[in-house]
Amino acid sequence: MRIIISDSTREAISIVATQVIDRIISHPCSVIGLATGKTMEPLYEEWARQAQEQNVSHEKCFFFMLDEYIGLPENQPGSFRHYINKRVMQPLGLHSDQIAFPPVHSHLIDEVARHYEQSLKEAGGVDLQLLGIGRNGHIGFNEPGSLKSSRTRLVELTAETRKANSSDFTDANVPAQALSMGIGTILESKQIVMLATGKAKADAIKYLLNHHDDPSCPATYLKGHPNFVVVLDPDAASKINLKI
Ligand code: F6R
Repeated sequence: MRIIISDSTREAISIVATQVIDRIISHPCSVIGLATGKTMEPLYEEWARQAQEQNVSHEKCFFFMLDEYIGLPENQPGSFRHYINKRVMQPLGLHSDQIAFPPVHSHLIDEVARHYEQSLKEAGGVDLQLLGIGRNGHIGFNEPGSLKSSRTRLVELTAETRKANSSDFTDANVPAQALSMGIGTILESKQIVMLATGKAKADAIKYLLNHHDDPSCPATYLKGHPNFVVVLDPDAASKINLKI
């Protein structure tokens, strides 16, 4: 695991955006795994800004979404599809056939989850997976208790996660379930870049740094990955004890 502690939130965001852009410039056929959440919003703005500035083409890239709520119409503002359309697809000018979303509208959820895994394999796997982190250490929607070997599946969201995400819903009625790539799925990505900003993430980051393979904080499973980078702003890094 490599940790980058930046001097400001802006710098942390810029570092991650530059990593994505550099990857796409050097490997135009990259497969990128996308996350949502408040942390990612300024990152997607900066990515689009850098892409425009450097005239970067995304037309040969393919994108996989990490997770999606169950039971929401696609155009509902709280859905991740809506979020990604607005913040990634439109600004980068992507076509709908360049991105795969977890197929949450089927009743055969186990079958479609397996199919999603198959699509990932057929695309050659994810080259660069972007991740945020939940206050409880979740990654994707792999809540505490998730297994390291877990694959794309139906997950139940904790009350804490539903509360944290309630501002995306006008009636605060956050779905209780989602389809999420598993930890085992995420660990197969060739590179994983986690961005954490703000004081609300400081405890989770401290825990991540001090524990390994701990089911109560699924992010700790990533520490054995050979190419896992965590980019922090000063607030997210504020509880780390660096003993040099
Ligand atoms: C969303 C996702 C989640 C978020 C996490 C942090 O696709 O996968 O794991 O990354 O909940 O969310 P924010 O950034 O809103 O604190």
